[in-house]
Order: sequence, then structure tokens, then C-alpha cells
Amino acid sequence: MKPTGPIPPEFAGEGPLLIGGETAEALAARAGDTPLFVYDLGVVRARVARLRAALPAGVGVHYAVKANPFAPLVAALAGLTDGLDVASEGEMRLALAAGGAAGGTAVSFAGPGKRDREIAAAIDAGVTINLESEGEAERTLAIAGRAGRTPKLAVRVNPDFDLRGSGMRMGGGAKPFGVDAARVPALVRRLIAAGAEWRGFHVFAGSQALDAGAIAEAQAATVALAGELAEAAGAPPPLVNLGGGFGVPYFAGDVALDVEAVGGALAQTLAARPAVLADSAFAVELGRWLVAEAGVYLTRIVDRKTSHGETFLVTDGGLHHQLAASGNFGTVVRRNYPIALASGAGGPVETVSVVGCLCTPLDRLGDAVALPRAAVGDLIAVFLAGAYGASASPAAFLGHPAAAEMLVG
Ligand SMILES: Cc1ncc(COP(=O)(O)O)c(C=O)c1O
Repeated sequence: MKPTGPIPPEFAGEGPLLIGGETAEALAARAGDTPLFVYDLGVVRARVARLRAALPAGVGVHYAVKANPFAPLVAALAGLTDGLDVASEGEMRLALAAGGAAGGTAVSFAGPGKRDREIAAAIDAGVTINLESEGEAERTLAIAGRAGRTPKLAVRVNPDFDLRGSGMRMGGGAKPFGVDAARVPALVRRLIAAGAEWRGFHVFAGSQALDAGAIAEAQAATVALAGELAEAAGAPPPLVNLGGGFGVPYFAGDVALDVEAVGGALAQTLAARPAVLADSAFAVELGRWLVAEAGVYLTRIVDRKTSHGETFLVTDGGLHHQLAASGNFGTVVRRNYPIALASGAGGPVETVSVVGCLCTPLDRLGDAVALPRAAVGDLIAVFLAGAYGASASPAAFLGHPAAAEMLVG
């Protein structure tokens, strides 16, 4: 038997799994088929409320749409947060439809390789563009000039540090993201001289960190860096986007991030911030921490078989919907996501492997996990499916239907 990650507290009860007050079976019936992703808005609301209570007053909360672009969820988060951060024109359209930019919520567009038409659309919609290079800055100024518009521009900084212990390092050394810190002041002066609306700095140093101390350290380094760059550029930033990197516990042994400790440290950092940042606003940019634990992937057992003494529960889902749970999305060693029998009691606990319906050995949702004995027709729940699930999986692989998605609660 191999361990599984911790089931989010909201779903960790005895008996049939309830999501937003409905049983998994009722939700599957409502969707009309399995597999499906269910996102519990109550869980998201609770995360936002906890975060707001933990952060110093006035620090904005932005949602990184890439974590989960399901339109009803983005619309809900537009109302719960202070900004939507997007990484493509497609995400930008979702954010605008959810009430962003001219509709009220701040929208900012980061990401390398923005095409001219994406830049033009962002300028047109009044979206802040987080510039990733000097070349992108010049293209943006030229496009805005031709359109007779004043672009809202921030500079994404590639810092000389990264987020310690983060699952994905986004700063420190040569990176395709942002402008190397040493060259930022000259770029800021160029943007201001060209008549752009200067919006400030964006620093994203890493992702999926569970250590509050590491996040606090990166935030302090970001504030110090923003102060130095602002001094050197001679221009205080209206906004310093501190990035995020707040992680969630996916695997056995992971301990949930202490956001209250992060917030306490940030309050101290901001209280002692450089004078040039006295009037700057600050924001954090979070994806998975807001939504990952709110999502459950439900898949039905199609077959139960044994091979060389191992029991397999073969489901109608798999890595084409939930790649991350199969261990093939940025992890080196495959480990089990939290998983449960959603249908109810089941029989005595046994060790089984839960696999998907794709003809590849990679398609494993649970490897030698302990579950109550389950039968064909029962529902399996794979947790932590609210971020980098449906939209981050190879849905077309092998031609099975897409999973349904539902927002409840
Ligand atoms: C610029 C930027 N913002 C936000 C995120 C979201 O990160 P997470 O979902 O880990 O909070 C990422 C992730 O790679 C990112 O690159």
C-alpha cells in the first residue's frame, strides 16, 4: 500500500461524499454522465475570506486564471477578488466577460510570446500589459501609437532570486519570463518618456511553495527590489504585484501553508518598505491556493480485474482529464493525490490501483491505494482537482469525450 495526499477538510467526512451539499451520485446524475469535475464555490469563498483576514489591509488579491479558466468560476472570482491575471487573449476574453477591465475588475496580461493582435486587443480593452521584454515593449508602444491609444504598461521583472522550495522556479538566472532586473530602470524610463500609463512592477518568483518562511523571504526580497528599481528609474510604481507561489498539500507528508504567518511577515515588510514605495499599492497573484482544493474529479468504475495478484479498478476517466493526478504534469516521482470511494461505505479496505481508460501505463489515478472494496458502477473521487485539471490535460488524447464541469455551492 502506498500513501495518498490529505483529503481537503471540507470533504473528509464519513459516508457518501458531499460536494456543495449534494452527493457525488446526485451531481453525476445532474451532469448526465461521468467523468466530471465539480468545483465547490463555498470552499473558494472560504479560502478568499481566510486570505483577506491574513493579509495586511489594502493588499489586493488577484486570481491567476490559468489555474482554472472554467467560465462560471472565473465570473465568481471576478466578484471575490481585486484583479484577474491572464496569460493569453483567450483568458483575457474570459476575464472581460466576467466583468474585468472597463467592467471594473483590474485585468493584467502577463506571459511570453504575446502576438501583435493580442497586444492590440489588450490595449483596446484597457488591460494592463505586463511586459516580458524590451522587444515586446517596443512592439506594444508602436501598436498603441498606431491606434492612438495610451497603453497601460507594467514591467515583469526577472529577479535575481527565486522562491525557495517552490515546485516551479520562475526567477533567478536565465529565464524566458520578464526583463532582467538590471535592465528594468532603463525600460521604465523609456515607457514613461513614450507617454505610456506606467502601472508598476510584476515579480513572479515561483509556484507551489508550502513553506511560509520561503514565501515571506521572497516577498521581502521583492519589495526591496521594487524599491531599488523605482529609485533607479526615478518613478514610484503605482502597483507592485508581489506574485504568489502559495502551495497546496497534494501528497502524503505535505503540510498546508500557514497563510497567517505569510500575512504577518508581509505586514512587517510593508511597514518597513522603502520610502519610494510609500504610495504604491500591493497585490498577490494566486492560482491554485484559491481553487485547487475546491475541485473534485469524479469518475465511475467500469471494470474490476486482477493481474498477477494486483487488483485494478478501471474507470471511465484518466489522465486525459486529470493529467496532474497521474503524475505526468511537472512531477519527477509519481505520488498519489488524495482519492476516495465517493459512493458510500463499500466493503472492507483493500489495496487497489485505480487506472483510467487510456491504453498507456501512465494512466494511473491511484497507485496501490487503500480503499473500501468498490464495485463496478461505483464512483471514485480524486481530490485537488480544482487547479490545472481539465484545462491542463491532453483532452484529445485517444478521442474520449471531455469531462463535464460544474460549479456548485
Ligand atoms: C505569472 C504567473 N502567475 C500566476 C501563476 C499561478 O501559480 P499558482 O497556480 O501556483 O498560484 C503562475 C504559474 O505558473 C504564473 O506563472
